[in-house]
Amino acid sequence: MSELNSIVLKIVSSGKGILAADESNGTMTKRLDSVNVSSTPENRLKFRNTLFTSESMKSCIGGVILFDETIKQSVGSNSIPSLILETGAIPGIKVDTGAKTLSSSKEEKITEGLDGLRERLKEYYKLGARFAKWRGVYNISESYPSKVAISTNSHALARYASLVQEAGMVPIVEPEVLMDGSHNSKTCLDKTSEVIKKCFEELIIQKVDLKGVILKPNMILPGTTSEEKINSEKIAELTLKCLIENVPNEVAGIAFLSGGQSEIEATENLNMINIKNNSSFKMTYSYGRALQQSALKYWSKNLDDIEGTQKVFNHRANMTTLAAKGEWKKELEKN
Ligand code: G3H
Repeated sequence: MSELNSIVLKIVSSGKGILAADESNGTMTKRLDSVNVSSTPENRLKFRNTLFTSESMKSCIGGVILFDETIKQSVGSNSIPSLILETGAIPGIKVDTGAKTLSSSKEEKITEGLDGLRERLKEYYKLGARFAKWRGVYNISESYPSKVAISTNSHALARYASLVQEAGMVPIVEPEVLMDGSHNSKTCLDKTSEVIKKCFEELIIQKVDLKGVILKPNMILPGTTSEEKINSEKIAELTLKCLIENVPNEVAGIAFLSGGQSEIEATENLNMINIKNNSSFKMTYSYGRALQQSALKYWSKNLDDIEGTQKVFNHRANMTTLAAKGEWKKELEKN
């Protein structure tokens, strides 16, 4: 087994998943503003360190995605990456520099961050990162995602993935098709399938080792303003169809984003995907909001209530890990 493949398996095996704590300062400020906490480096660290020192880190979390600010922070004499390593999880780093307007299709985005990436990866490796993340983002409408958006973002994702593997780390490849819009689940299935197919074509052209990649896809859902309502069984069925038809078998790990689903929806849907999954893919989570939302809300009422906040986070992480094994039940949410 290659070194990269063993990192992937360590992150996604036995129901473990990824805590996506890699919000940029801009996004984290929005999250903190929403609960009336001021977005200072100290507060951002305090909340994240509360999560990283929770009991469930050991049993549930295989990897943590960090933002540039956090990977360079310390608590006492302990750097954040070493603190994460002590829990048994692997530290990772978001390396894209965000989605900007695509010059050839101005309502769409292209993710930037390739310039100087080789050098930044060396620095992050020295700081302890063993995996990285890059998010390409697509919106759905009658004419989008366009061919140019799919082709440029897939190319960038593959260039990023190749550089990350050269640096000895595992790339998380995230081609996110957003939930926003009135489209139905069939459109989400078609567009997501097109995006994922093209992404793997580019990864293969650029000789990325697929056994050393984690795919971070969206689930197949109707748009947020669609009139269509489907249950978790249908969501699981469509999501599995999309992945089984478009992801090469060598890919060792698939870790879903939550993308704006509520904590319970993201848990229930992941659970059903795992109940119905009879492929060789390991299907787990790489959740940001669906792991942190309740903990953040609780913490905002008293920033010093570390124990209470950790209790809320532990519950969510335990539920999500049960879902990654197809063992979650709604009744467990009441405890
Ligand atoms: O890139 C997206 C984040 O890492 C996952 O965030 O689960 O809130 O969509 P989310």
